[in-house]
Amino acid sequence: MTAELHTLLCDRLGCRYPIVQTAMGWVADARLTAATCNAGGFGFYAGATTEPGEVEKELLAIKALTDRPFGVNFHMFQPNAEEVIAGVIKHGVRAVSYGRGPDAKVIRRLKDAGVVCMPTVGAVKHAVKAVELGADIVTVQGGEGGGHTGAVPTTILLPQVLDAVKVPVVAAGGMFDGRGLAAALAYGAVGIAMGTRFLMTTDSPVPRSALDRYLATKDPTVIRVTTAVDGLPQRFIENDEIRRLEGMSMPARLAMSIAYARRWGRQSGLGALDMAKLAVKVLSNGDTTFAQTVMAPNLPTLVQRGVVSGDPDHGLLPGGQAAAMIDRLESCEDLVSRIVREAVGRLSAVSSLAPVA
Ligand SMILES: Cc1cc2nc3c(=O)[nH]c(=O)nc-3n(C[C@H](O)[C@H](O)[C@H](O)COP(=O)(O)O)c2cc1C
Repeated sequence: MTAELHTLLCDRLGCRYPIVQTAMGWVADARLTAATCNAGGFGFYAGATTEPGEVEKELLAIKALTDRPFGVNFHMFQPNAEEVIAGVIKHGVRAVSYGRGPDAKVIRRLKDAGVVCMPTVGAVKHAVKAVELGADIVTVQGGEGGGHTGAVPTTILLPQVLDAVKVPVVAAGGMFDGRGLAAALAYGAVGIAMGTRFLMTTDSPVPRSALDRYLATKDPTVIRVTTAVDGLPQRFIENDEIRRLEGMSMPARLAMSIAYARRWGRQSGLGALDMAKLAVKVLSNGDTTFAQTVMAPNLPTLVQRGVVSGDPDHGLLPGGQAAAMIDRLESCEDLVSRIVREAVGRLSAVSSLAPVA
């Protein structure tokens, strides 16, 4: 019954079903990544938030938990980008995902090593640029998705990108069940990618205190976009911390960022000079303002307080609007098999409809 769900994505990534678990900072750990792969999906490990010196240990931890192919997420502005790239190549990681990121030279290096390059984009022009730079597959994240997100919903962005690029496209943003998978395949995508839905599983490392807040959120409009955290649009479940940040003056927010930057620097083993160099690198990329660069360190501290320490009021809870549609935690195994079952059901129901005269 599931043969019809086998798409080109399964061939390229070496997974059984066209269902991807996207990378989520501090959430997509070795266990969640491996659980997704063991369930027949394809998991991306959150390499963008892995501390310097820890990458190899984490890759080995995934390999100890699964013998299936998996992916790693990174971006070029993390202090240990080279450590991630080298680890990916050394350990034969199947695919990388990235957003702001690697140039054509780095992408060539990864592709020459047999790594599938699969960026996530939130706008059609970024999809076109990503393909020009060498992307093999593009994941389209519509605005309803969690984390940094654009303004165009999946129902518009997906066909826009399908029309604009020639590489296979994966649909993300607001996916949570088999209806979404069936719809994405009907649009012409080769599969779906989900963050929030995998965050809300029993294989997720997020503490129960925070998961309960995700589960209790039933109104998609309170899972909303704000620029108050790091200056870039990002979707979170509204809470006291979001309201506090939005109420702060710009100077107060910048002062807070500097304090968090010092803490983040200590955590990452970076001195003042290293941090200044990193800021210059980010700024010279051209798509980030000075205020956004200074505010960037707010994100790690506050998100970790939410999804690692499990404080749903004083930390941040990144998530997509799909959270409002999810009422229980399932294992990755149960989740993937249910989505496949539902998608097959929807697709066969649609194909049995009488053709329009
Ligand atoms: C908690 C959380 C953390 C995220 N962290 C990252 C990240 O580190 N890198 C990245 O490329 N995307 C990140 N994202 C975005 C997801 O990878 C994914 O594109 C998005 O969640 C898809 O939309 P959905 O939540 O509706 O499934 C994050 C999303 C969430 C919810």
